[in-house]
Amino acid sequence: MNPIKRGVLALCMLASGSAFAAEITIDTAKPGAVINKDVYGQFAEHLGTGIYEGIWVGPKSKIPNTKGWRNDVVGALKDIQVPLVRWPGGCFADEYHWRDGIGPREKRPVKVNTNWGGVDESNAVGTHEFFDLVDLLGADAYVNGNLGTGSAQEMSEWVEYMTSDSKSTLANLRRKNGHDKPFKVAYFAVGNEAWGCGGNMSPQYYSNLYKQVETFLRAPKQYRPKIIASGGNDNDVVWSEVLSKELKKQTDGISFHYYTIPTGKWEVKGASTAFQENEWISTLSNTLRMEDHIQKNSAAMDKHDPEKKLGLFVDEWGTWYDVEKGTNPGFLFQQNTLRDAVVAALNFNIFHAHAERVRMTNIAQMVNVLQAMILTDKDKMLLTPTYYAYQMYVPFQGATSLPISLKDNQDYSAAGFKVPEISASAARAKDGKVYLALVNTNPNKSADVAVNIPGQVVKSVKGRVLTAAAMDAHNTFAAPQTIKPAAFSATAGADGKLTVKVPAKAVIVVAVE
Ligand code: AHR
Repeated sequence: MNPIKRGVLALCMLASGSAFAAEITIDTAKPGAVINKDVYGQFAEHLGTGIYEGIWVGPKSKIPNTKGWRNDVVGALKDIQVPLVRWPGGCFADEYHWRDGIGPREKRPVKVNTNWGGVDESNAVGTHEFFDLVDLLGADAYVNGNLGTGSAQEMSEWVEYMTSDSKSTLANLRRKNGHDKPFKVAYFAVGNEAWGCGGNMSPQYYSNLYKQVETFLRAPKQYRPKIIASGGNDNDVVWSEVLSKELKKQTDGISFHYYTIPTGKWEVKGASTAFQENEWISTLSNTLRMEDHIQKNSAAMDKHDPEKKLGLFVDEWGTWYDVEKGTNPGFLFQQNTLRDAVVAALNFNIFHAHAERVRMTNIAQMVNVLQAMILTDKDKMLLTPTYYAYQMYVPFQGATSLPISLKDNQDYSAAGFKVPEISASAARAKDGKVYLALVNTNPNKSADVAVNIPGQVVKSVKGRVLTAAAMDAHNTFAAPQTIKPAAFSATAGADGKLTVKVPAKAVIVVAVE
């Protein structure tokens, strides 16, 4: 078959099933909250090949690198304008002792990564290396402190080491190790998942420990990080409730974790590829629970913080599947398909709607772990559909959210699940343009979405679309270009109305003019 015929056939397949019509109205006259750029934050834990091999190869590696960080991976991450990186964990953070990761690398102690596969932890990546990475990315740093096996003294000294501009012994040690000026720490968290791997605590007990620790986190005013309390997960709002009451005066925000699992069961989560429509829709239905979780946690916080001074920081989220066959189960390595890009976009639209309270999120995780942006195999790397979702949504970083209303949206139903067919969000970006994101959750049917802006004639939309013929379309090292965004545009018809035909199972981001 010649390539043109093949292209036409592919388009027909994408548009299979009859389209339905909906209408979106963007209210540019009532701008909402600014979408903090940190909503597009990333998470890099000492877990599997998330750091070692995935991004860090060491300065002596044959893989081209800068100060030990892979040039190819760093370059790709720069393209999605990563605003923030959370490090060193996760569960790893509560067993991490920062002094193990400073000074000459060959003299650093080797530890066991007890959480993730029981492998050796060389401590080659420590505080200075992490700040090299965020510098290379042009990102901010989110450092997670160790409450589980650490102490107030250890966290206090780490903050002093990183941020002090005095002549103290610790500040001078940082200078001796190669960094004269204080590091800029944007956020510092006191522990991680204190309800589980971080120490199996109650929220009340954690609050008392937090108060003690926070008292001693001293930093010069201009270098003082925002301090984060480690909160709850899933549908448990008790942590947000207790922490916003107890810690209101001593915290900048409360973290929250929610992972999307196709089956909803940790024992058998579901496969990352070769799934059927029942697990396409169950995954989307489960991920949309984020909306309810945010609403309930925010409402719990409203009781003690109606002014919304505290942020709800979703500092771990994303899909979690069964690991790929033949890989170390402790490394959480999974493939990433069009379904993951749709999951990412659905969550972005939810975060935008809650921009007032949700001021930072970190997808788990940046490279080779869970819902990753990038997968690597020795010197090869590939960009995942999730990477492209982040790339397409870049204009939303720091944009001002705009209220939208959706008329005649339908439900897509299958296998006993029901989700709205279209998900959308809009914002006025820093370049002054209005951007619209549209997701069609239905894998079988396209949707015609009329776009209105009261008081404005919408002439055209221009941007990119991410879709494919298969629900599990993904990139491999042998075929790394299987799925990537394509140009997308539409213009108003003779009647002056503009309709966007959103293909089945697709993500679209366009500038509206
Ligand atoms: O992201 C993987 C793990 O999931 C993190 O270490 C932990 O915080 C969560 O349970």
